[in-house]
Amino acid sequence: MQGLIFVTWERYLTEHFGEKLLYAYRAALGETAATAPLVSRVYDDETLLAGVSMASKLTRLPADVLLQEYGRYFMINGLTRHLCMYLLAQVHSGRDLLLAMSNAHAQMHLASEAMTPPLFKYLLSSNSPHELVLLYDSPRQLCPVLLGAIEGAAQRYGETVRIREATCMRQGASVCRFEIRFFRQAVDQGQQPEAFERSTHWKVQQQLAQLVLKVLPTKDGLTLTHLQRVLQRHLTNPQHVRPKVLLDALNHLQHAGLVSSTANQPGDNLTSRRYWRAPQGNS
Ligand code: HEM
Repeated sequence: MQGLIFVTWERYLTEHFGEKLLYAYRAALGETAATAPLVSRVYDDETLLAGVSMASKLTRLPADVLLQEYGRYFMINGLTRHLCMYLLAQVHSGRDLLLAMSNAHAQMHLASEAMTPPLFKYLLSSNSPHELVLLYDSPRQLCPVLLGAIEGAAQRYGETVRIREATCMRQGASVCRFEIRFFRQAVDQGQQPEAFERSTHWKVQQQLAQLVLKVLPTKDGLTLTHLQRVLQRHLTNPQHVRPKVLLDALNHLQHAGLVSSTANQPGDNLTSRRYWRAPQGNS
């Protein structure tokens, strides 16, 4: 599973249970600063399962409670908000985000075969635009994460949500069937994610990301230095070709599944890492 899941999982543990728990957790799993998860890498599912079971032992909370809380945290924490911004900025409600995620997850798999996010199916309600049924059939059976992520998606947009898991794979059903209804509420300004997404700063970042996508090749790839040289021909503002700014743009595109890189290959480092445009699905 992709590194963002592992990094946000450890952040969730730290923010909810404190640094002491994280130290105990890392020590019990034999994790050191050098082996701590990175967002650019992909890790085995077993590593996450071992981590969840250890966290359950240390916190004395059932694994499913932790997974649901984590799912909610995943949708509202600052790192996901930052890295998935290219995707998140395109939608403006919990329901639209859910509807966007089947294609968006599929696009991530096109960018890296090592990533196998869930491909949701939906049944839309003819009664209400706020209702939908989501069908989930990932072999990982992480329905508590999904439940939390739906709650987090609602929270992200200042909404509340009612969810009923009508059937569950863990109880022998062929798919988990979630019946969902979102409710809009009046929210204070602080909860509105759109504020940053409407800002000039984000618009400039978005335009830069689109230009990066345009100049990247579809195979072999460019290093950061090479990309910087190519962009200097298109951009007059030297601020926009600073490595930190370009890395941000590449990170946003990678987390939308639009760019692939050699990050997960043996011997990779930031200097030698190459980036190319991922094949485009129908998202
Ligand atoms: C409401 C929105 C979302 C829902 C309900 C959702 C749900 C899930 C679930 C349940 C998983 C666990 C894997 C599995 O079940 O097989 C997952 C994985 C993942 N999701 Fe989402 N997600 C949402 C939004 C996002 C967003 C905004 C991103 C931003 C990049 C994202 C990126 C990922 C990634 C990278 C994985 C790991 C996939 C892998 O490495 O195989 N998701 N998602």
